[in-house]
Amino acid sequence: MTALGRYGQGDEVAGMVSYLTSPEAAFVTGARRLMVVLPLERHVIKFVISKLDQENTMSQKLSGKVALVTGGTSGIGLATAKRFVTEGAYVFITGRRQPELDAAVNEIGKNVTDIQSDVSNLADLDRLYATIKQEQGRLDLLFANAGGGELIPLGSITEEHFDKTFNTNVKGLLFTVQKALPLMPEGASIILNASTTSIMGTLSFSVYSATKAAVRSFARNWIFDLKDRQIRVNAVSPGVTPTPAYNLLGLSEKQMKEFVESQAKNIPLGRVGTPDEIAKAVVFLASDDSSFVNGIELFVDGGMAQI
Ligand SMILES: NC(=O)c1ccc[n+]([C@@H]2O[C@H](COP(=O)([O-])OP(=O)(O)OC[C@H]3O[C@@H](n4cnc5c(N)ncnc54)[C@H](OP(=O)(O)O)[C@@H]3O)[C@@H](O)[C@H]2O)c1
Repeated sequence: MTALGRYGQGDEVAGMVSYLTSPEAAFVTGARRLMVVLPLERHVIKFVISKLDQENTMSQKLSGKVALVTGGTSGIGLATAKRFVTEGAYVFITGRRQPELDAAVNEIGKNVTDIQSDVSNLADLDRLYATIKQEQGRLDLLFANAGGGELIPLGSITEEHFDKTFNTNVKGLLFTVQKALPLMPEGASIILNASTTSIMGTLSFSVYSATKAAVRSFARNWIFDLKDRQIRVNAVSPGVTPTPAYNLLGLSEKQMKEFVESQAKNIPLGRVGTPDEIAKAVVFLASDDSSFVNGIELFVDGGMAQI
C-alpha cells in the first residue's frame, strides 16, 4: 500500500506519462520516483501505455497511410515529412543529395525511407516508384514538392535557366504524379506545391512564377482525369517562407534580412511564414478532414495574395 492509503488509478499514471513526454517536461530528467513505481505497478503501466497508444493512434490524422514527399530533405518538404510521420504515416522522401537525405532521415527518426532521385529524370522516377511498390505496395499520399527558382529579369533569361526551372517544377512534377498513379488506391490524395507567384507578379521571377501558374492549372485539370478513381488533387500555395532555398537567390545576408523585412510589411499578418505552417496545411489536404476539398489552391501566405 502507498502512503496515500490507496492504489493509483490508470488515468493518474497516464497524466504523469503524458506530462513527462511533453515539452513542458523538457527540464525534467532522470525522474527517480517514476523508475521506482514502474516495477511495482507493472499491470497499471501496461494498461496505461496501451490506452495512450490507442488514443494516439485514434487522434492521428494519417494513421497507416503511405506517403511520398519529393524534396523532403529541406524546408517545406522536410517539415511536411515530419508532420506526416507524427500523424501516423510511413514516408518516403527524395532529393538529389545523399548527405542531405541521410541528415533528414536522422532528423525524422522513424517510419521514413530515403530514395535519392531527381524529379526531372524519368528513369529516377521509375526507380523511385519501383522501390515504393516493392517496400509498401501502394501510395496513399503524394506531396509533389520538389522545386525551386532563381531571380533573373527579362532581358537576361537564358535557355538553361528556362529549361532547368520548367524541367524541375513542371515536367518533374507532372511525371512525379503520372508515374505514381498505378500505385494509388481509390481515395488517395495528391498535393502539388505551387506558390503565391501563381497569381502574383514578382520582380525578376517570371520564369519561376510561370511554372507555378502551370502547377496550379494541373490541379484544376487533373481532378477531371482522376474523377473515376476518386483521387483528390489540390495545390498549396505558400507565401514568403524563409527556407534554405533563399540562400540560392544570390543575396547577401544583409540583403536577405532587408528582403524578408520588406516582404513582411506587405503581409496582413505582419510576418513571414514558417515551413511548419505550410506543413500543417498539407496535412489538412492529405487527411480525411479535407475529403470534399478538390482542385483548390490553398494559400498559406498570411493573407499576402488576398489583398
Ligand atoms: N520557401 C518559400 O517561400 C516558397 C514559397 C512558395 C512556394 N515554395 C515551393 O516550395 C517547394 C519547396 O521549397 P523550399 O523553400 O522548401 O526549398 P528548399 O528548402 O530548398 O527544399 C527544396 C527541396 O527540393 C529538393 N529538390 C530540388 N530540386 C530537386 C530535383 N530536381 N529533384 C528532386 N529533389 C529536388 C531539394 O533537395 P536537393 O537539392 O538535394 O535535390 C530539397 O529537398 C518548392 O516547390 C518551392 O517552389 C516555396
